[in-house]
Amino acid sequence: MSLPSRVQIIDVGPRDGLQNEKQPVPAAVKIELVHRLQAAGLTEIEVTSFVSPKWVPQMADNAQVMAGIQRKPGVRYSVLTPNAQGYAAAVQSQPDEIVVFAAASQAFSQKNINCSIEESIERFAPVVQAALAAGIAVRGAMSCAVGCPYEGDVSPSSVSHLAGLMKQIGVQRVDMADTIGTGTPLKVQRALEATLQHFDIDHICGHFHDTYGQALANTLASLQLGIWNFQSSVAGLGGCPYAQGATGNVSTEDLVYMLHGMGIPTGIDLDKLVDAGAFISDFLGRKPNSNVAKAILNKRAG
Ligand code: HMG
Ligand code: MG
Repeated sequence: MSLPSRVQIIDVGPRDGLQNEKQPVPAAVKIELVHRLQAAGLTEIEVTSFVSPKWVPQMADNAQVMAGIQRKPGVRYSVLTPNAQGYAAAVQSQPDEIVVFAAASQAFSQKNINCSIEESIERFAPVVQAALAAGIAVRGAMSCAVGCPYEGDVSPSSVSHLAGLMKQIGVQRVDMADTIGTGTPLKVQRALEATLQHFDIDHICGHFHDTYGQALANTLASLQLGIWNFQSSVAGLGGCPYAQGATGNVSTEDLVYMLHGMGIPTGIDLDKLVDAGAFISDFLGRKPNSNVAKAILNKRAG
């Protein structure tokens, strides 16, 4: 078995994490978090989303956050765009990549973006075309690719179907997302194999929420298939507001610690990353939701 020789991490904390916070987080704090992530060596950061502020008020400051970031050369800044209106607003902020997001289950599609899977693809198609024509990269998130909070287990054939639709409309790479973190390693491998029917190994990212504590095991199972792009949240921030009880992504700290321990480089400085996680956790008034961050912070304090 040969594991990938390096791993690329997208930190989604500023978006997937902070979209789910009950307490308001000022734009200046979000901007500082992005600055700290890039200082720690993250080269891909999912900053915000251009969704309805009625649905997700936490992301209403999207343009302000994008405008406030001092961009570091070589860093890719991505934003979520659910429709043409979101894209029109997002493009003013000059993202490097937009993310269209669909679900492998119909019920989640309805709850999250208020339309069926097929309708969402129809909405995305012109957005994807416009982005590609403007030289903006396009990623597609596939929610509930393992389990759905409303429908239960999601079949690999549903994942393959969605991946095929994403490919047809020109999406360049996809996120295989375990939105509610119920996946276990073999189920995750089946969902990845379904995705591999339409996208090659370099164009699939693993996006694992850690609700049931399976995300690192699922990451290892993905590495075993050759997947080398992953998403995670600094300090384990987050969850999806339309997936009740679902907690954050696996923490970037835990992911980086595991990968470095396996001899797989990420380009990320773990100490600086822990500082970034401590910064946002202090602001939120709690400890980072990361075993590695807690261990390192305890060691420092002792
Ligand atoms: P809708 O209500 O069906 O949209 O929402 P509509 O087209 O009927 O428009 C209704 C109103 O929304 C109008 O305003 C529009 O202007 C406005 P009004 O006339 O009532 O004042 N509107 C917008 N405003 C700002 N930006 C926009 C926009 N679009 C319409 N882009 C919509 C459809 C998709 C907009 C809505 O359902 C929505 O915003 N949903 C939020 C979904 C979301 O952000 N979910 C969390 C992110 S996904 C996630 O976390 C999963 C992921 O991490 C992977 C995983 O873990 O699974 C990616
Ligand atoms: Mg997510």
